[in-house]
Amino acid sequence: MEGLTIRKARVADATRILGLVNELAVRQVMLPRSPASVLENIRDFVVAEQDGEFVGCGALHIVWSDLAEIRSIAVDPDAQTRGIGKRMAETLIDEAQDLGIAKLFAFTYVPGFFDKLGFAVVEHDTLPHKVFQDCMNCPKFQACDEIAVERVLDETNSVSLRREVSELPRPARAGD
Ligand SMILES: CC(C)(COP(=O)(O)OP(=O)(O)OC[C@H]1O[C@@H](n2cnc3c(N)ncnc32)[C@H](O)[C@@H]1OP(=O)(O)O)[C@@H](O)C(=O)NCCC(=O)NCCS
Repeated sequence: MEGLTIRKARVADATRILGLVNELAVRQVMLPRSPASVLENIRDFVVAEQDGEFVGCGALHIVWSDLAEIRSIAVDPDAQTRGIGKRMAETLIDEAQDLGIAKLFAFTYVPGFFDKLGFAVVEHDTLPHKVFQDCMNCPKFQACDEIAVERVLDETNSVSLRREVSELPRPARAGD
């Protein structure tokens, strides 16, 4: 797409990211984010600019050694259906691949968009408990109507979460 740039977010983008995500959340098409959660995770985000104007955002959030979430992917309603969402998602997927992430997942109301990106719908309970950490702060906690989707990027490097937990070095305790 001519004039379209996807770049890493900067702190100055947080206002526009929050404006877009929370505008779409009011329309009930995605979940809201707080200023703190966007700023603390600003390095997760990419933004899309059309001829220098902000038109979208998306984030890749690492959950564990083999698992990351694509979240808060949003395109300005006036710029939707022009391939911008797909370009941002592909950038995030490439980043996950560069990081060595074996599996991606997302919670979404638009599984059709993720289907085009090679994701498949899965049951919520197939995902590890850790991914539900943020759900505690969600207004729809215990009444979640989002659909879980996942895409395996690297089957051979997909390690068992339980094995990794037991093998990771732990901080020393006083008296050790
Ligand atoms: C979902 C969203 C990010 C898609 O971005 P977009 O720029 O409009 O989508 P694209 O033009 O890149 O579409 C890419 C492909 O997905 C398909 N697609 C897009 N939205 C879709 C939808 N709601 N349902 C089914 N398929 C969809 C397109 O047809 C296109 O298919 P193609 O590659 O065969 O042409 C955007 O519509 C949006 O911001 N929606 C509101 C927020 C939201 O729902 N975010 C989802 C993550 S929580």
